[in-house]
Amino acid sequence: MGTPPMAGPDGNPAPAMPKTIREGGTVEPVREILWGTSAGVRKFETATEVPSDMRELIVKLMVVQADTEFASIQQHRPWLDKAPTLEDRWIEARIVADEARHGLQACRILRDFGEEGQKLIDDLLSKPEGHHKLDAFNMKFDRWSDVGAFTCFVDRVGVYQLRAFQECSYGPLARAMPLMLSEEQLHLNFGLNVLKRIAKETPGYPGSRAEAQEAVNKWYPRALDMFGHSNSATSRRAIEYGLKRWTNEEARARYIEEITPLVKSMGLELPAIDFDRRVM
Ligand SMILES: [Fe+2]
Ligand SMILES: [Fe+2]
Repeated sequence: MGTPPMAGPDGNPAPAMPKTIREGGTVEPVREILWGTSAGVRKFETATEVPSDMRELIVKLMVVQADTEFASIQQHRPWLDKAPTLEDRWIEARIVADEARHGLQACRILRDFGEEGQKLIDDLLSKPEGHHKLDAFNMKFDRWSDVGAFTCFVDRVGVYQLRAFQECSYGPLARAMPLMLSEEQLHLNFGLNVLKRIAKETPGYPGSRAEAQEAVNKWYPRALDMFGHSNSATSRRAIEYGLKRWTNEEARARYIEEITPLVKSMGLELPAIDFDRRVM
């Protein structure tokens, strides 16, 4: 059974704790809600104590999270025994195992929401390839360069989504973040290295610089779309509830700032921000 959140001595929510989150790294466990309208009170620890509108939002966010994890397993699967080198195959296998674990983690949170959560898990587990919520997860990896660009661009968006949940107001979700983030870091580094090797036209390695550029053009717009609409009311509500740290637009801007020099360092070019976009 849960305890209702505590208010300050004057009956109003206590002020935000002066704690900071180390960007991109693991953090000390924090008991208080750090931002939003309940800043300063104890985090929500069980599904039963979460207010109903916040409950709806957690469920929605976890369904999208789990859906992307299971979809990416379907996308990677054909490359488990087709990746060009032994090391690449091993990392592909690790990525698939990690994404399965992330899906499990999101589903465990859904499961805490009782029958409603279990029904959503059943739906998630029966979703065929090409029927997922976000376009980036309905596209096939036709070439090895797609694997490199997907892990470099799309997994990197995933990291931004997870970082937005770091030390969020729902304890079980906040506690899932450090391990998920450290696993995702491997995926990003792998993606960047694959794309680099392709762009450099490394002898004996598949692909070419032109192919790497095509992969950038294919995945970058889908990655930017993943952040969602700029004026999303859901993203503003998620901040108010202390679930997410940034609006969609803030997160997208941070991402662009990070990816721009990386792409340049490979001698490749990023298309314009509005190129081939579907969600603005
Ligand atoms: Fe993941
Ligand atoms: Fe990943």
